[in-house]
Amino acid sequence: MTPVRVLLASAELAPVASVGGLAHAAAGLVRELRRHGVEVEAVLPDYGGVALEGERVLELEVPAWAAPGRARRGTHPDVGRLTLVSVPGMRRPHPYTDERGVGWPDNDARFLAFSAGVAALARTTPPDILHLNDWHAAAALAWVDEALATVLSIHNLAYQGQTGVEWLVRLGPRADAFAHDGSCNPLAGAIRLADAIAVVSPTYREEVLRPEGGAGLDGILRERERALVGIRNGIDVEVWNPATDPHLPAPFDADDLAGKELARIALLERMGLPDLHLPLGVGVTRLVHQKGFDLLLPLLEEPERLGLQLALLGAGDAWLVRAFREASAAQPRFVAFVEGYDEALSHLLFGGGDLLLMPSRFEPCGLAQMQAMRYGTLPVVTDVGGLHDTVVDLDEDPERGTGWRARAADTPSIAAALERAVRGWRSPAIRVPAQQRGMRADWSWSEPAAAYHDLYRRLVGR
Ligand code: ADP
Ligand code: GLC
Repeated sequence: MTPVRVLLASAELAPVASVGGLAHAAAGLVRELRRHGVEVEAVLPDYGGVALEGERVLELEVPAWAAPGRARRGTHPDVGRLTLVSVPGMRRPHPYTDERGVGWPDNDARFLAFSAGVAALARTTPPDILHLNDWHAAAALAWVDEALATVLSIHNLAYQGQTGVEWLVRLGPRADAFAHDGSCNPLAGAIRLADAIAVVSPTYREEVLRPEGGAGLDGILRERERALVGIRNGIDVEVWNPATDPHLPAPFDADDLAGKELARIALLERMGLPDLHLPLGVGVTRLVHQKGFDLLLPLLEEPERLGLQLALLGAGDAWLVRAFREASAAQPRFVAFVEGYDEALSHLLFGGGDLLLMPSRFEPCGLAQMQAMRYGTLPVVTDVGGLHDTVVDLDEDPERGTGWRARAADTPSIAAALERAVRGWRSPAIRVPAQQRGMRADWSWSEPAAAYHDLYRRLVGR
């Protein structure tokens, strides 16, 4: 069988450009698809500072406003075959935001130009499948030929890239599809035009079809219901492996958790938390509304009552950063906060934590809960999206449970789940089997990539 050739465009791809889960999801999928024999070329905006081996410069035909119309194609030591599209104004310290966490005012121009570049690339070297991730690449569909098979992956419906209608005249021949609710909406256009739409978990698929979860696009998603699939993300089980993780003081696995205790001690010390006996909740997160960490703030006023200490690593909205800084200053024995994006520290948090807190208001898939389970850190989550699909509540199903699910994304429900979690964690007869189930489960990309591969083959065979 001739291999399927895929051009996969994204604004993030670990480790070249990482902000959140999109980077890891895209990287993990690309790697695993290649293992399945799919020929994948990844395409990113050229944020600068990335060297490629065997680099070749490609001239691309893009609209004048999106110039310079150039891309570098070559091989990256970590991600393999990679093309970086030159885009005006792309070379900044952060892909999306300034140092206060506020979006760059010209994000529309930047990513619509990137999308134009992706479409031009698909014209010069047509793949079998053009796979676009999120709104940043979605508008490519305005330019590409209808005959090309296309997939849109939606990692997060909350980010649609809406901008002024004046942009519609600058998009390609299929620009009309991008008019939505009085604006130019890259994600909406791509939902209308893509041959298949993948969202990142089965439960999120159900949620986005309803007004409460559709972020204003549920109507057009319902129209495309037959083209809509929900494929859960995986994690890179080589990067996330407590048996080989260089960021941990000692290796451990499901059969021997002794090393986890050492990671826990190292983490407490690193975070300046003094109590060895109190369960340690950890968070590794973007600090934005979606993630619901603000819902924990009232509980941190009286942490003794929770019976829990918290170590949090996060970056994002200024007000949340300030609130956690203040919480940590007010309760230094219970709350530790490190601001920033720190991959190495995140490994120690997953390795040394007892409970992972993920009180998301919505969660398309979520990777952190899978990373946590892989390290025997029991997740305490809300019952939404991919969290519903990956975490089984120990009180509902003691035989299969892997964590705890709060019934709703509000402070009292989260407090109730945390109370159950602290109780369960304190009982080794409950804790250890749950840790082992989470650690032994298959969170790899193997199954999800097979599902994408099937999807590609169905589209190519059409
Ligand atoms: P989202 O993509 O919505 O931010 P996910 O759980 O899908 O949420 O993915 C987030 C990914 O980014 C995880 O791999 C997590 O470990 C990582 N991450 C998030 N915030 C940080 C941070 N402050 N430092 C290091 N890694 C982080
Ligand atoms: C988004 C979602 C997250 C998902 C990630 C990767 O950032 O918020 O739930 O895991 O994309 O698909």
